[in-house]
Amino acid sequence: MTKTDSRWSSPDEALGARVELTLAPTPLHALPRFSQEIGVEVWAKRDDIGPIGLLGNKVRKLEFLIADAQRMDANVLVTVGAVQSNHARTTACAAAMLGLRCVLILGGAESGTPSGNYLLDRLFGAEVELVAGAAWDELEPMLAKKCRDLEEDGQRPYLIPAGGSTPVGALGLARGYLELAEQLAARSLTPELIVHATSSGGTQAGLEVGRAILRGGPRILGVAVAKSPGVLEAEVAEIATNAARLAGLERTWGSGEVAIDHSQQGPAYGVPTDAGQAAIRLLARTEGILTDPVYSGKALAGLIDQGGSGSLRGPVVFWHTGGTPALFDSNLGPPLIE
Ligand SMILES: Cc1ncc(COP(=O)(O)O)c(C=O)c1O
Repeated sequence: MTKTDSRWSSPDEALGARVELTLAPTPLHALPRFSQEIGVEVWAKRDDIGPIGLLGNKVRKLEFLIADAQRMDANVLVTVGAVQSNHARTTACAAAMLGLRCVLILGGAESGTPSGNYLLDRLFGAEVELVAGAAWDELEPMLAKKCRDLEEDGQRPYLIPAGGSTPVGALGLARGYLELAEQLAARSLTPELIVHATSSGGTQAGLEVGRAILRGGPRILGVAVAKSPGVLEAEVAEIATNAARLAGLERTWGSGEVAIDHSQQGPAYGVPTDAGQAAIRLLARTEGILTDPVYSGKALAGLIDQGGSGSLRGPVVFWHTGGTPALFDSNLGPPLIE
């Protein structure tokens, strides 16, 4: 073993400071009835399992982001997202757990009774600022301005960009990949692929870094729920390259090394698709597991599509990134049940 190899004998040490929020390791288990339906052996990595406020892939990022915030002695977490953002809800919950103030700038308008993630944000006591009609690129400057205002008020804000997809946040998913690798080894499983929903890129970037740390393992396929081909690949590559550097790893990524399926996006981010809704029903009815119309349902539709094309031998790991509170967003149509 070289000196570089030996640092990975303790992944926690190599990846830096982390606040314990997950109930990791999250379960890895087979999906026998779902596998039979689609003709490919599928296993689920259950990052959707956790306390209600903290389920999902965003918790892994927050473990590293909040450790960074604590290092800077921050007392307010400030972040941004859509009104039904899982990341915003998870941040609100983590702030409540740790006694931090939380300010959320959410793109969207109040419509009817609060539901889904927005209801939970409010329940966790986050200070929510709704911005109706704002485009994504308008929200990020608002986030920066909010932090400046808080500083002028004598507060110590920690800015978390959309989705927590910074290199620091991505380290959480690198750790997740190492966790999965141990579970696979214990079961003598060698999947060919990991499939998951991708949007702001940090999850896929982190998984890539984990794979690079181990110098191999199942390949990663992101199923895009937002952003155009080329753009998201470049973002994932950049986050992965910078996250690897933080972990002391000499590795860079180009867009061409990032595999993303853009066929399941549908008309727009957050708009359910027929294939996604059908995938949600299939998993619910074969395994009793919930996915959501914005992220994990579309990722599952991508997996089913790959299986149907005959290009997968399996086994495949479906990395369930969570998002189920969106199922209870009363403003999201068309209806899931026929
Ligand atoms: C449930 C769920 N799955 C997947 C993703 C995509 O993760 P990333 O933004 O890191 O690409 C998100 C991001 O918001 C999410 O909430």
